[in-house]
Amino acid sequence: MLDKMKIWKSTKELGTLEDRINDCMQCEIPKHIAIIMDGNGRWAKKRALPRIAGHHEGMKTVRKITRLANRLGVKELTLYAFSTENWKRPKLEVDYLMKLPEEFLGSFLPELVEENVQVQMMGDQSLIPSHTIKAISHAVKETSHNDGLILNFAFNYGSRSEILSAVKNIALEVQNSELNIHQIDEKLFSSYLMSGHLSDPDLLIRTSGEIRLSNFMLWQVAYAELWFTNVLWPDFSEQHLLEAIEAYQSRSRRFGGLKSEES
Ligand code: FPP
Repeated sequence: MLDKMKIWKSTKELGTLEDRINDCMQCEIPKHIAIIMDGNGRWAKKRALPRIAGHHEGMKTVRKITRLANRLGVKELTLYAFSTENWKRPKLEVDYLMKLPEEFLGSFLPELVEENVQVQMMGDQSLIPSHTIKAISHAVKETSHNDGLILNFAFNYGSRSEILSAVKNIALEVQNSELNIHQIDEKLFSSYLMSGHLSDPDLLIRTSGEIRLSNFMLWQVAYAELWFTNVLWPDFSEQHLLEAIEAYQSRSRRFGGLKSEES
């Protein structure tokens, strides 16, 4: 049995990307994948390059992974592109990260439109420079009629502040008698979050070997399957995405209950 499994695994590893994609599509594809794209800086350092070179390379990975996610039939892909804590980085790096959406969308938007991808953004827009907002808003508008993959950028996003602002908005509505306290349940609370119109992530991926959530979708990932890899984001390939989805497909999701065969 073991030998059979070994043979199967090695054949699978030797199989082409196309074979793996087709195999993967035979099983359940996660509806919503969220990714903490980490390791750009280390990727650059390993090559004696400035950190921004790592972000530039990371942008290319976003393109590859978006294409494959769309092809596999993933419905929602949320990418942690800039956190509310990332302002602490050197100005040069922050300025570059603020330019990335323009650079990315400047070359990739026609393909996103063509491929029926809908661009969205969640985060606090107040501190983001107007040139960045302009590029994102343009992409959001241009793709608003698309009904394929939702490509959701978490940009100047922080989960704790998102939760606090949901709490404040709910409290205000209760205070103004627009909402009754008994109406507050998990579903209602979720709808006050920036991701209110999305489903909760089924699969959360973090690259670069760090095993933490870093203030990312803390409420929403309550029942997500977590998948960590040592691979740095610029090196994250289609094969790695398939590996993560295959791992997801082998998990038993019970949401705190039992599978019918266990009851
Ligand atoms: C974390 O790596 C990565 C970021 C803070 C930026 C993520 C941005 C991209 C992947 C570029 C794509 C963005 C768009 C909008 C298309 P790090 O810098 O913390 O890496 P390190 O931990 O190795 O220093």
